[in-house]
Amino acid sequence: MNLEALLAARLATAFEAVAGEPVDPAVRSSQHADFQSNAALALARRLGRPPREIAAEVAAAADLAGLADVEISGPGFLNLTVADDVLATLLAEPDSPPPVVAERVVIDYSSPNVAKELHVGHLRSTVIGDALARLFTWAGHDVVRANHLGDFGTQFGMLIEHMSDVNNDETNSLSDLTDFYREARAKFDGDPEFRTRARLRVVALQSGDEATRAMWRRLVEQSTRHFVADYARLGITLGLDDFAGESSYQDQLASVVDELTEKGLLVESEGALCAFPAGFLGRDGEPLPVIVRKSDGGFGYAATDLAALRHRVRDLKADRMLYVVGAPQRNHFEMVFAVARDAGWLHDGVSAEHISFGSVLGPDGKMLKTRSGETIKLADLLDEADARATSPAIGIGAIKYADLSSDRRGDYVFDWDRMLAATGNTGPYLQYAVRRIRSLLRDAEVSPGTIVLEHPAERRLALTLLGFEPAVAAAIEFREPHRLAVHLHEVAAAFSGFYERCRPITTSPSWLALTARTGATLELGLDLLGIPIPEQM
Ligand code: ARG
Repeated sequence: MNLEALLAARLATAFEAVAGEPVDPAVRSSQHADFQSNAALALARRLGRPPREIAAEVAAAADLAGLADVEISGPGFLNLTVADDVLATLLAEPDSPPPVVAERVVIDYSSPNVAKELHVGHLRSTVIGDALARLFTWAGHDVVRANHLGDFGTQFGMLIEHMSDVNNDETNSLSDLTDFYREARAKFDGDPEFRTRARLRVVALQSGDEATRAMWRRLVEQSTRHFVADYARLGITLGLDDFAGESSYQDQLASVVDELTEKGLLVESEGALCAFPAGFLGRDGEPLPVIVRKSDGGFGYAATDLAALRHRVRDLKADRMLYVVGAPQRNHFEMVFAVARDAGWLHDGVSAEHISFGSVLGPDGKMLKTRSGETIKLADLLDEADARATSPAIGIGAIKYADLSSDRRGDYVFDWDRMLAATGNTGPYLQYAVRRIRSLLRDAEVSPGTIVLEHPAERRLALTLLGFEPAVAAAIEFREPHRLAVHLHEVAAAFSGFYERCRPITTSPSWLALTARTGATLELGLDLLGIPIPEQM
């Protein structure tokens, strides 16, 4: 049960009685703290009476018997003190998900590129997307995970051509795909003859040449193996069934062109077929194109995204689509969504949102790179996490929590010392709180009993715990996992206060029950964020 919502509803009813008219539904559904001050002041203004007087009438009219004591303070605030036994009763129930109208939600996340190992740039999409998938699932939505693997495009020309050059040694050539990519790139940039061969390879691939396709499949499979291994290591819920790479839309691209043509949305421009959604202008003031078919007949990133979107709406029956992709692709998604709206694929019953996030920065405030200036491979990063932390769960928990506890829209600074710190708003701090609770419960001298709140530190912990459901609701509503992360930190901090003042916990049935309840909330919350609990700390 959501305490805030209950109190807000009771106060709203009292306001209605005093005002003699319904309160604004938006005010009614807001959290009670805002509700009291705003509503009391607005009402007083309208009635031309002192706010304190209005507040007193509302306090008298509110049906809060047995729920809370109310006191008027300042210019007309209503301070509520919830009754101890109400808190205790609410805490006897386990945490439950906020009420939602269940939807089918397609979450496009991680979505790395073949032959480029997962690097830190994909870390955020993977970690944030997975937390959202877990949260939406728990709330009762029907989540479809979509890993939009970059397994299609002109870069495969050079990759396959390079593969056929070095093919003699089958296994070794692909063990390090990043090096492989770099070698291919270097040849492509430096050798015109190779470049020509690479272009012909693209044609061969797209026209279905069997030998070429076999090599392409090897590249995709090898990459997929790397990705799946990284996901397992990170505790990411993406499985092989969730891979729906760009290539899987290949046979739908021609019909995307047909449908857009039929709807009069395509214009030929320098040999390419383009859509020009309204309102997107370049720096020169000219309309910006979404290139649907290139002048050479090939299809690019935007065309594939249009096909994927249409497939998600029509075949997967999505009500909502979330694209967890970095901020630099904002324009791409706005334009793709605009074309989809013009085509009627996105209509009132379906929504598409770009869930944008900032970059991962090094401690120097610049994009995180290795010392020699290269992008950092995720596997190397995880190796370092293992080496620095005392167990993989701690290292991975630290990385994930550092990402999830900051507002996704901003950049975030990757700083080992800060994220691994045992105190402060860190993964290890929360993991440690869970370990400590588990060991307290193990060492208990009595059994947990009924919760009776006496000490202010117990009350504070109880009130904090009851903020879980609103925090989850906010994390889901705003697609912001940090709302839950920050709340869990508050729970752990409130638990510390309780632990210091109410001791020894192991001797009191009520204290043990409150401890167990805290442990359950922290474990659930960390699981919803995808943060593991180490076996030992
Ligand atoms: N593969 C792309 C990249 O690495 C991300 C794909 C995001 N998803 C999408 N539907 N476009 O930049």
